[in-house]
Amino acid sequence: MAQNIPRHVGIIMDGNGRWAQRQGLLRTVGHRFGTETVQRAMEYMSRAGVSVLTLYAFSTENWKRPEKEIATIMSLLSEYLYKKTPEMRSSGVRLNFIGDLSRIPEESMKAVRYAVDELRNGSGLKVNIALNYGGRAEIVTAVRSLADDVARGRLRPEDITEDMISARLYTADDPDPDLIIRTGAETRLSNFLTWQSAYSELYFTPTLWPDMQDSDFDAALEYYSSRDRRYGGLNNA
Ligand code: IPE
Ligand code: IPE
Ligand code: MG
Repeated sequence: MAQNIPRHVGIIMDGNGRWAQRQGLLRTVGHRFGTETVQRAMEYMSRAGVSVLTLYAFSTENWKRPEKEIATIMSLLSEYLYKKTPEMRSSGVRLNFIGDLSRIPEESMKAVRYAVDELRNGSGLKVNIALNYGGRAEIVTAVRSLADDVARGRLRPEDITEDMISARLYTADDPDPDLIIRTGAETRLSNFLTWQSAYSELYFTPTLWPDMQDSDFDAALEYYSSRDRRYGGLNNA
């Protein structure tokens, strides 16, 4: 296993649709198989000693998809939460959702509340599920809240700091992601952790999300531990 373990790993779980289509199956079948990988990823990251895992499940742009596909994703989410919560509980997972949940169907929200409540005392891996999440929307929300403080005379514009913006994001309690993994061959961030990823190491793999195995996660962590994170300074070597 890799030496230098990231504290916070973000994953853009991409390629479910293509995985299914390549086998002549419906895209939604790919999403179902993708949930198995979610379980593998949580177990792997727990074992590796990662503290926070943020999984990109549904973006603010994913509403552009056919209604039926969206409905399937939402129902797979509740199915997953009801089915896997006992297992997550015994492995000490604490669950948190990031994103604008006001647009999430009530049926799915019931499952979200149930799982979050059941897992609230988890002392192991913290898992953030990004649901109706968009990095830009998140920054807009933070900026509005700062603007409100300015309007009320509680804050002067020149006193606004980077830390104050970080503190008003959904991830306020978490360190910035050290490593972001994207599966499914695309090499973009697609509005994931826009502010927080400023100095993240990025790992892209052509492997489609349902195909990701422990050995693929090993490769990502190996890549991470080989990086020299200079943050604009000089070599540590
Ligand atoms: C990622 O897989 C899951 C979500 C975006 C919800 P995709 O559905 O984007 O799969 P591809 O990229 O079309 O293969
Ligand atoms: C990013 O994947 C969003 C999630 C994995 C939830 P997309 O498939 O939506 O991204 P694009 O459209 O290829 O950029
Ligand atoms: Mg995709």
